[in-house]
Amino acid sequence: MSLQETFLTQFQENPLNWFLSGFLIYVIYSYLSPVPYNLPTAKHTETTVFREYTPKQLREFDGRTQQTKIYMGVCGNVYDVTKGRNFYGPDGPYGNFAGRDASRGLAKNSFDVDMLTPIDQPLDTLEDLTREEIESLNDWHSHFNVKYQLVGKLVNDRDVF
Ligand code: HEM
Repeated sequence: MSLQETFLTQFQENPLNWFLSGFLIYVIYSYLSPVPYNLPTAKHTETTVFREYTPKQLREFDGRTQQTKIYMGVCGNVYDVTKGRNFYGPDGPYGNFAGRDASRGLAKNSFDVDMLTPIDQPLDTLEDLTREEIESLNDWHSHFNVKYQLVGKLVNDRDVF
């Protein structure tokens, strides 16, 4: 019996061979094809460098556009609060805190604009806070530590201090 006849007999006797041959052809084709699979391009995960922010630099991170990150200062730390955009975005109830040192507002439970130190002034020392206000601020500080990523430290602008 010739090789050709042997193959034909095999295919006639066991139809599974058709399936196996098809699969083999598919595997060989996929392997040799120049664009074998439509795989997504590998991307490095986004990294954030811990750094210092002056009030003016922090102001840049106020989430004015959907693309802009939102950072907020609490007790000398800077947190990335972007995932809380509903709170801190331009239309959020606490939008005043975005890109600013929010410590005084958190201590006094007020999101009024006059809780914010102007960005061309030295950092708020918070020395006048009462015991209750310091406790309130500490509670908020713990909340931010748990919920948001710490991305930096607030520092005075050298031109100001
Ligand atoms: C009118 C009274 C207020 C109401 C009804 C209110 C309501 C809320 C609610 C429902 C949440 C979300 C809580 C959660 O899901 O974890 C929240 C969070 C918050 N509130 Fe208020 N709030 C009020 C006043 C204030 C004031 C005066 C401040 C000023 C400091 C403030 C600052 C915050 C902050 C910082 C958060 C946390 C947002 C976050 O987790 O990033 N709230 N508030």
